[in-house]
Amino acid sequence: APMIKIAPSILSADFARLGEEVRALDAAGCDYVHVDVMDGHFVPNLTIGPLVIRALRPHTAKPFDVHLMIDPAQPYLAAYAEAGADIITVHAEADRHLDRSLQMIKALGKRAGVSLNPATPAAVIEHVLDRLDLILVMTVNPGFGGQGFIPAQLDKIRRLRAMIGDRPIELEVDGGVNAETAPLVIEAGADVLVAGSAVFSGADYATSIAALRPQRQR
Ligand code: DX5
Ligand code: ZN
Repeated sequence: APMIKIAPSILSADFARLGEEVRALDAAGCDYVHVDVMDGHFVPNLTIGPLVIRALRPHTAKPFDVHLMIDPAQPYLAAYAEAGADIITVHAEADRHLDRSLQMIKALGKRAGVSLNPATPAAVIEHVLDRLDLILVMTVNPGFGGQGFIPAQLDKIRRLRAMIGDRPIELEVDGGVNAETAPLVIEAGADVLVAGSAVFSGADYATSIAALRPQRQR
């Protein structure tokens, strides 16, 4: 069985104390720090730019998993890479030239990811698989934390797990992941779980993070 990684989303953190929050996640045993970047155009919300990522970079050595919900993304890839992103994920729907974006991310020396909205079929990434380090399946419609998990995405997770085969691609799930839904997405084949409200609503981040891992890994 694969090791499950937990990537808390700082979208649900206290934005007035973001540096402290990132240090607390690190101390609580997170694997990645998930950063939700929204442009008010691709999604109906505005969040974090490269300046904030740069400011957070000294607060942890954990990888920054940067989820770009922006259209276009290409003009900003270098800025996010330079700010300290380790994984840069673009949305298939926001990108007319996905293959080029993935090449650009790799040329910047970063791990390349692609994300799929709930209405987007798995097949759209079939021909870029060999450029990918990570696939991010949205299990809510992106834009906000705290929404309900969409069970129809479990089938897509299973399909993508089969498509990945033995390629070294991580399969990440984002949206409505909590202690109840985590076992479902793990069973379907996910190996990285993003969680915003489930981590930050608890008083103790280490307990909340451990509750998302399979029993054998707590
Ligand atoms: C949604 C973001 C998610 C979100 C997850 O647009 O991409 O990362 O913050 O939050 P929860 O875990 O609360 O659904
Ligand atoms: Zn996200």
